[in-house]
Amino acid sequence: MIPIAKPIIDSAEKKRVMEVLDSGMLSIGKVVKEFEEAFARFTGARYAVATSSGTTALHMALLASGIKPGDKVLTTPFSFVATANSILYCNAVPVFCDVEEGTCNIDPDRIEEALKNDEEIKALLIVHLYGQPCNMDRIMKLVQKYDLILVEDAAQAHGALYKGKHGGTFGNAGAFSFYPTKNMTTAEGGMIITDDEKVHQDLKLLREHGGAGDYDHIMLGYNYRMTNIEAAIGLVQLEKLTGFNNRRRENAAYYDSHLSNLDWLEILEKQTDCLHCYHQYTIRVKKDRDRFVEYLKENGIGCKVYYPHTIPSLPLYKEKGYNGLPFPVSGKLCDEVVSIPVHPSVSDEDREKIVKVIKDW
Ligand SMILES: Cc1ncc(COP(=O)(O)O)c(C=O)c1O
Repeated sequence: MIPIAKPIIDSAEKKRVMEVLDSGMLSIGKVVKEFEEAFARFTGARYAVATSSGTTALHMALLASGIKPGDKVLTTPFSFVATANSILYCNAVPVFCDVEEGTCNIDPDRIEEALKNDEEIKALLIVHLYGQPCNMDRIMKLVQKYDLILVEDAAQAHGALYKGKHGGTFGNAGAFSFYPTKNMTTAEGGMIITDDEKVHQDLKLLREHGGAGDYDHIMLGYNYRMTNIEAAIGLVQLEKLTGFNNRRRENAAYYDSHLSNLDWLEILEKQTDCLHCYHQYTIRVKKDRDRFVEYLKENGIGCKVYYPHTIPSLPLYKEKGYNGLPFPVSGKLCDEVVSIPVHPSVSDEDREKIVKVIKDW
């Protein structure tokens, strides 16, 4: 089976992890700080704060950016559930707005429509889905015009650029995930980047029970720490990230050129002036998608539907009264999308096989 994702860990990560284990300094410490500094340098952000997961990164990013209970936060219905859940953790209110059919990213026209209809919307939580940045020129104009807080879910966008600027650096804060399927991993882990000194200070407090010094807890915080063990893996992975992403792009370019003229399949549109990092290579199958997924698996090709349901149609959100709201584009995408292996371990032979099996369908 060619897997849909495969973390690449070799002797370099193992060596750094062993150094941490031998040091006895296992939880947060100087290796975490080194990883934060390296990640900030890589993205061009002033500050980076490492955390225990992409989910906790999102939660803290919203809190530190000023989201308060009852605030309305506009977001996409077509993402991993953690995106919207992070709004609920703040006791804030997710408001959903549909996506662009071509890119699957939140649609700036619909954002503006929602803002005109609801003056209480205070913030925007966007997702650079599959590793492709949103249309940031249009989104930044709206952020300025409507004076919004902007938080970026860059969980899938390590090394993705919009007009040369890293995803995650446009808003008040950007949140990354290092889950093992991501473009780089720390096993579990996350990172928040920001240019804002106050946001940075609040993030550090929130991460460790609001403690400013020894047992000096000045606000309600959490234990959202990253460990030195995870940071040791992350430091090595970050050095490899550009190489990993280059191979993802090569594999994606191969699929683009071989899959673009099938009448039953659509490849996604490219956002202009972007460097996509291809967390996923996603295609749209216009008919019998579920049967197609089974067929790929029967032929040894790992694949996955990201995502089969819109967030507001999930049971938790239905219970909260979100049922009945139409998101026609997202709904259609849920029925059509499937992601195929694009990660750096996909060999030339693997991708040739994948294209052949797809064309034989
Ligand atoms: C878009 C998106 N947001 C948030 C997350 C949450 O990250 P984590 O699994 O590290 O908590 C993920 C990853 O699974 C994701 O893909």
